Amino acid sequence: MIPGIKGKRVLVTAASRGIGYATAKRFLEEGATVVISSHDESKLNKAVQSLSNLGPVKGIKADLTSSEEVSSLVREAAERLGGLDVLAYITGSPKPGEMTNLSDQDWEDGFKLLIMSAVVAVREATKLMKRGGRIILSASMTLLMPLPRLDLSNVLRLSIAGIVKSASIELAQSGILVNGVLPGWTMTERIEQIIEERSIKEGRRREEIEREIVKDIPLGRYGKPEEIANAILFLASDLSTYITGALIPVDGGYTKCI
Ligand SMILES: NC(=O)c1ccc[n+]([C@@H]2O[C@H](COP(=O)([O-])OP(=O)(O)OC[C@H]3O[C@@H](n4cnc5c(N)ncnc54)[C@H](OP(=O)(O)O)[C@@H]3O)[C@@H](O)[C@H]2O)c1
Repeated sequence: MIPGIKGKRVLVTAASRGIGYATAKRFLEEGATVVISSHDESKLNKAVQSLSNLGPVKGIKADLTSSEEVSSLVREAAERLGGLDVLAYITGSPKPGEMTNLSDQDWEDGFKLLIMSAVVAVREATKLMKRGGRIILSASMTLLMPLPRLDLSNVLRLSIAGIVKSASIELAQSGILVNGVLPGWTMTERIEQIIEERSIKEGRRREEIEREIVKDIPLGRYGKPEEIANAILFLASDLSTYITGALIPVDGGYTKCI
């Protein structure tokens, strides 16, 4: 068991599948009580159903592009959990695209999804958390190393570093630790879909595209969603009591910058 997770009251956002789902699953396996959210009710209900044999879990539907919904999600989650100890903040993905073809609306939508939602969630969570509270924001390797055709992520996610740093300093006195994780190539439905789309567009076999990506990952494979989840659990646990304001890449060595 990971020390300090059992009995924790945890909100995991964007958790009907992928990294969020794996994070909720790992918290439940370690004895936490969990609320998960997503903006598709039927996918959310399916996820709650499949997680419910592991421990106490509830779902709340909320669109992370709406500040009002993010704010009420955090409050309602704390009500249902009887308090809030951990916020594991994950979002959906922004639209792929480049400077030359993304519209003003795309930028505004991306800002709401990736940044405004994190600002509101952190603000609301800190009103409810007591000493020992943990906030973990999951962003992306693009925060360290821009990737082609992911300009919304390349540009906007940099602000997650600002949020983590600012909030960690402001909340240190209250005993709340704030950190971030930066996932690298992690095999989820979304990545399978990206590879499939590239394969169709470029007329190349899936395996060829997969190999092309993996050759730049020093550990020689894609990450598993549970491996991102484990880093989030570490930051929520008693093993990380002197870590705040950190951004931890979980990317098999993909980002080569120092
Ligand atoms: N996988 C990777 O390699 C990788 C690498 C770096 C960063 N990331 C980032 O990590 C995050 C999760 O990635 P993933 O691969 O796990 O994605 P995924 O498998 O596509 O899952 C995305 C989750 O976000 C939810 N979601 C999407 N839009 C939402 C919205 N507006 N409001 C509320 N929930 C929303 C989806 O739920 P519903 O559809 O049920 O609403 C789903 O649960 C994304 O931000 C992604 O960009 C992923």
